[in-house]
Amino acid sequence: MTSRPPSQTAQSAARSRAVHWLREEEPKVLNDWVAAKLLDYETPEDLLAAYDAAPSARLPGASNLFAVRNRYAEDEFQKAHADHGCDQYVVIGAGLDSFAYRRADSFPCTIYEIDHPSSQQWKRDRLAHAGIACPANLCYVAVDFEEQEASLVAALEANGFDRTRPVFFAMLGVSQYLTLASLKSLLKAIASASSARCTLVMERVRPIEEGHLEGPEAEMMERLLAATTKMAEPWITFLDEPQTDAVFREAGFDSIHHELPSDSIRRYLQGRKNDQMPKVAALVLASTRGA
Ligand SMILES: C[S@@+](CC[C@H](N)C(=O)[O-])C[C@H]1O[C@@H](n2cnc3c(N)ncnc32)[C@H](O)[C@@H]1O
Repeated sequence: MTSRPPSQTAQSAARSRAVHWLREEEPKVLNDWVAAKLLDYETPEDLLAAYDAAPSARLPGASNLFAVRNRYAEDEFQKAHADHGCDQYVVIGAGLDSFAYRRADSFPCTIYEIDHPSSQQWKRDRLAHAGIACPANLCYVAVDFEEQEASLVAALEANGFDRTRPVFFAMLGVSQYLTLASLKSLLKAIASASSARCTLVMERVRPIEEGHLEGPEAEMMERLLAATTKMAEPWITFLDEPQTDAVFREAGFDSIHHELPSDSIRRYLQGRKNDQMPKVAALVLASTRGA
């Protein structure tokens, strides 16, 4: 397994969710009160100042994107629970995802947080430092997808995962960091993780050639690519809609829905003071039929 420092992009994503929580009006799109506690800032003002100094903050509604993508995954998991009793939630590349600490007791479920070992250990240290308890229905599973993609399900099973029950995966802000080959293997493992229905919400970064970026966002994309490379977490995989369909079908998914930024704006942001979000990424909701 490759050693690496704790993910800086995971900290940036959590900072954006914290900014949404600190700045936006009620009701929040995502009530992520945990994010600010896990990050290493003395005060909320320090956190906001660091966010404002980052290039991505210049994109209108940038912090909304991070609140919206988690909210969508959590809403879809809740629907899957109500619809077909889905009670296993697997967060792939969990970073500082806080579903488990905010909502573990919303309904009966087992939550698995999967991440690179160094990022996972850093998060566990931060949780301990903040005095936030690990709920009894949460399991931490350390995996490096570039090296062990084939053993994702084995690693889950070793922690009590039931391959006969429905499962929901959330993979947000992760696909762009993986090689296409690793992503394909991972999607195959996800689609065959259970004999019952497997559902996935994945964020994909859209290729510039898709022509969805205008003016400041197009310029910003260049800066974002440079920034992630500088953090040693470069974006390397971009997927448009037809490529996504092909890759998901090949992996074994039967149903694929594209949730574009315009759909997310209608669903979660319409009528809010800050009703913008960047168009750089889009969400995919996919599922297998299951037994
Ligand atoms: C941008 S962060 C997103 C974190 C979280 N999903 C969120 O939305 O806040 C990317 C996450 O993917 C994880 N990741 C990237 N490459 C990985 C790999 N090869 N194996 C395991 N985890 C990886 C990082 O450790 C990090 O937690």
